[in-house]
Amino acid sequence: MSNKKIIVANWKMNPTTLREAKSIFSGIKKQVLNLRNIEIVICPPAVYLGEIKKLLSGKKISLGAQNCFEEEKGAWTGKISPEMLKTSGAKFVILGHSENRKEGEDNETINQKIKLALKNDLNVIVCVGEKERDKEGGHFVYIKEQILDALLNIRKNYLKNILIAYEPVWAIGKDATDDITKKQLQEVVVFIKKVLVEKYNIKDFKDVKILYGGSVNYKNIEELVSTDANGYLVGRDSLNVDKFGKLLQIVNEI
Ligand code: PGA
Repeated sequence: MSNKKIIVANWKMNPTTLREAKSIFSGIKKQVLNLRNIEIVICPPAVYLGEIKKLLSGKKISLGAQNCFEEEKGAWTGKISPEMLKTSGAKFVILGHSENRKEGEDNETINQKIKLALKNDLNVIVCVGEKERDKEGGHFVYIKEQILDALLNIRKNYLKNILIAYEPVWAIGKDATDDITKKQLQEVVVFIKKVLVEKYNIKDFKDVKILYGGSVNYKNIEELVSTDANGYLVGRDSLNVDKFGKLLQIVNEI
């Protein structure tokens, strides 16, 4: 991972055909031709990885997956291991997304997934974030616990392969109840950096990378980009080539 701003496209369970997936990917590829200051990770549904990998060229865009299973192989019907993702072209995997936590994924399972993904040379994007804000600051305690549990027994040398994505549940998706402000985001970014600096006894804040996700779009990116976040995780708007292209242009220029 470089020091450029990282933009992760989380396509979730979209689009519904491989044809569309290829077309969106090719559209994004065109949009980024002249952008030199950003790194892009596209996370399509895992079944499309192999075909989209064939469309890759250059180093600007990498592929990622949206989840993996916590076992290497065996009798696990329907599950996908980190090694399978890797051989299909993924360099990254998103883990602990709130949509999976909602389905019952706990911090211990997320920790197992992270360990196995790192062992298989994948970079991990670990999602954390409170369901709601608390006037007394309880969300900070919640976020810290999510991070420390997720990274339990993970050694410092892996830190270069770990991105923490702060994704407050209340700001995600079309049902988001509120927009995050620059001030709120900056506070949490600094907080998460401190948690990692303390845990790993790091000297430099620059060694820890934090992304933000939750209704990021080309309209609010200008405000968010002035925080210390190292990049953004974009859901809905990463499926719209024009809107996503505009967003990438803006981040590239700042
Ligand atoms: P959104 O999704 O941009 O549609 O809010 C972000 C995410 O869930 O990763």
